[in-house]
Amino acid sequence: MKITIIGAGKVGSALGKAWAKAGHYIVFGVRNPGQGRTQPPLEEIGVGATSMTVPDAARASDIIVLATPWPAVPDAIRAMGELRGKVLIDCTNPLSLAGDGSLSLSLGSTHSGAEEVAKLAGGANVVKAFNTYGWENFADSAYPNAAALKPVMFYCGDHDEAKATVHQLAAAIGFEPVDTGGLGMSRSLEPLALLWIRLNIREGRNANFTWARLTR
Ligand SMILES: NC(=O)c1ccc[n+]([C@@H]2O[C@H](COP(=O)([O-])OP(=O)(O)OC[C@H]3O[C@@H](n4cnc5c(N)ncnc54)[C@H](OP(=O)(O)O)[C@@H]3O)[C@@H](O)[C@H]2O)c1
Repeated sequence: MKITIIGAGKVGSALGKAWAKAGHYIVFGVRNPGQGRTQPPLEEIGVGATSMTVPDAARASDIIVLATPWPAVPDAIRAMGELRGKVLIDCTNPLSLAGDGSLSLSLGSTHSGAEEVAKLAGGANVVKAFNTYGWENFADSAYPNAAALKPVMFYCGDHDEAKATVHQLAAAIGFEPVDTGGLGMSRSLEPLALLWIRLNIREGRNANFTWARLTR
C-alpha cells in the first residue's frame, strides 16, 4: 500500500520505518520537504519513501496517518484539503500541559480528539489507532519474553472498510489488532494513552512496555 504520513516526528518516523520494512511505500507529508526531521527516516528507508508538502502528500494516497501534535491538528487538516472517502488514521492525543507540568487530556469523557478530527476532516473515514502507547513500541513491537503473546493495537471507527485497512496495517507490523467499536470508543482509547504516559513517567521514563490481551 502507499501510505501518507502527516508529520515525520517520533510517531510518524517510527510507523513509516516499520511499514516500509513490511513492504509498504511511505509518503511523508511535512511542512518543509527536503529539510529537518524528515531526513533521517528518508535516509533509513531509501527508495521506499519520499517527502512532499502536506497537500501533495494528502493527494498522493487514500490512506493518511495523522501524526502531528494536537494543537497543530486543525492547521494540518486544513492543509490536507479534500479528504472525502479517504482513510484517516488518527494517532494524535489531545494532551494538555497544566501549570504544574502535569499532563492531562483537553477533552473529556463526553467527547474525544478523534471525534473532533472527524468533524474537521469532513467526509474522511476516521479510525483512531496507534495512540495508546509510546512510539518506541511502534518502532519495535517484539517482546522476547512474551512468548506467543503480541502487543495489542486497539482501534475504533465508524467505517468498516477503513477499519479493515487499519487492522491489516497493525498486523503487518507485529500487533494483535483489536476492534473496539465505533469512533466514540476513542473516548476510552485516548485516556488509555494518558495511563501509559503516567506509568512511563512513574517508572523513570521506561517506554518498553505495552498493552496485551489475555483471553480464555
Ligand atoms: N510520542 C509518542 O510516543 C506518541 C505515541 C502515540 C501517539 N502520540 C501522539 O502522536 C502525535 C505526534 O506525536 P510525536 O511524538 O510524533 O510528535 P513530534 O515528534 O513532535 O512530531 C510531530 C510532527 O508533526 C509535524 N507538524 C507540526 N505541526 C504541523 C502542521 N501544522 N502541519 C503538518 N505537520 C506538522 C512536525 O513537523 P516539523 O518537524 O515541521 O515541526 C513533526 O514532524 C501527537 O498528537 C501525540 O500525542 C505520540
